[in-house]
Amino acid sequence: MGYLKPMRIGNVRLKNNLFLAPMVDVTDLAFRELCRKQGAGMAYTEMIYVDAILHENQKTLKMLKTSIEDKPIGLQITGKNVSEFEKLAKLDLVNDYDLIDINCGCPSIRITGNQAGSYLLNHPNKISDMIKILKNENLTVTAKIRLGFKKNNVVKIAKSIEKAGADALTVHPRLANQGASIPADWKWIKKVKQEVGIPVIGNGDIFSGKDVERIFSETDCDGVMIARGAIGNPFVFKEILRYFKTGKEKELSLEEKIKSFKQYLVLVKKHQIIDMGRIKYLGGNFLKGFDGASKLREKFMRLKNFDEILEFVRKV
Ligand SMILES: Cc1cc2nc3c(=O)[nH]c(=O)nc-3n(C[C@H](O)[C@H](O)[C@H](O)COP(=O)(O)O)c2cc1C
Repeated sequence: MGYLKPMRIGNVRLKNNLFLAPMVDVTDLAFRELCRKQGAGMAYTEMIYVDAILHENQKTLKMLKTSIEDKPIGLQITGKNVSEFEKLAKLDLVNDYDLIDINCGCPSIRITGNQAGSYLLNHPNKISDMIKILKNENLTVTAKIRLGFKKNNVVKIAKSIEKAGADALTVHPRLANQGASIPADWKWIKKVKQEVGIPVIGNGDIFSGKDVERIFSETDCDGVMIARGAIGNPFVFKEILRYFKTGKEKELSLEEKIKSFKQYLVLVKKHQIIDMGRIKYLGGNFLKGFDGASKLREKFMRLKNFDEILEFVRKV
């Protein structure tokens, strides 16, 4: 079972091949640090629109926060113009990150309507130009893709991404317009892996150690990326590591979940990234999966400010 192991992406060394996925409104600095403590080998910022970085949008500047504990770190970006990427590549701030990941998979209409995210899958030449521009500045560059608008296209897109010089590729095997209720079709990860030489990270429907074992054996991918499985559940990384050591998985107790949520609150305060909408969303996800969870969640959702939340977790 030698699936979990250290990994390299370009010159970036990862202690293991378990990736925390980029997630809008979830993977802020505090949440990333929490997942790293539980064993995640790699993490990314949430997707950030290049144009917002160039305009020094205040909300965006918060999303760009990183720390010495937050390593290795990928900055995930998306955008519409190659020229924006050219400007970004020259900013000092890109050096705060170990690699730059180009989001070519976001299906949100707000993003595709701006000709970014999964819209780019219909324009592989543009993706290639974006990669080349970042590589010209000696940056480590990866891309995260969905299958595109037709499944048969994914291998062609993956090959063009490799040819442009990308150092690794993440495949989330759903079509650009498919929702999470449709199972991720891992066979496309295998097909991509067979056709490209760069590391391929498999993503989609991984929630446990058993899922990790299955995706490695079915696809031969080099690393695995977890998104929903980590929301309110940063322990997923520790549990996967435990599973590969002992063959066993464990149910978590209310105490463990609350302890971890408290750690999250301490980190958001430390990094001054308090955002009530986000804390409520994550808190609601921590308060799941034990007896009495729904009552506790209802109470939690009525809290009005950060101090009330601190008081609530102290008393639980
Ligand atoms: C709340 C949420 C936010 C997401 N935001 C991003 C994002 O910022 N960038 C990105 O590439 N994918 C984003 N995704 C997609 C995930 O990274 C991942 O590809 C997808 O959820 C499939 O993985 P999973 O089955 O482990 O959830 C998001 C998913 C969720 C649930």
